[in-house]
Amino acid sequence: MRLTCTVNGQRRTVEDVDPAASLLLALRERMGLPGSKNACEEGECGSCTVYLDDQPVCACLVAAGQAEGRSVRTVEGLASGDDLHPVQQAFLDAGAVQCGFCTPGLVVAVHDLLRRDPDPTDAEIREALAGNLCRCTGYQMIIDAVHRAAAAGGRR
Ligand code: FES
Ligand code: FES
Repeated sequence: MRLTCTVNGQRRTVEDVDPAASLLLALRERMGLPGSKNACEEGECGSCTVYLDDQPVCACLVAAGQAEGRSVRTVEGLASGDDLHPVQQAFLDAGAVQCGFCTPGLVVAVHDLLRRDPDPTDAEIREALAGNLCRCTGYQMIIDAVHRAAAAGGRR
């Protein structure tokens, strides 16, 4: 199929997309957006989290054909040019990026959390991020990053 959708604010058209293949594959391999990671490709880890029509989804569980005519925002779309989004900067500052495989999905999930709750408690953070797995950090640095991002106004 020819897939046409808006990605990070730009209208994109890609030819010869398998509509049953995942949106994650289309983003990474056809649209030059490798930020969203393919860790489990089973909806278990959250590393592929993107916004689809402003709702966070696991892109590995969305068929590419389902994105037709819709709006996608990936981790690449959160930064403003070379300026990192406050959530991205907070992850760096808190040391919450180790291997980095979980980071893009977590950044999108935290971005979504702070839109809904600009100053979440530790328990609220843990609950909101329960679908995002990290094998490296033990999560405390991620929680620290969320508080830093909240203090920096992470809702942008
Ligand atoms: S790669 Fe999509 S949830 Fe793990
Ligand atoms: S930093 Fe390695 S999985 Fe989270």
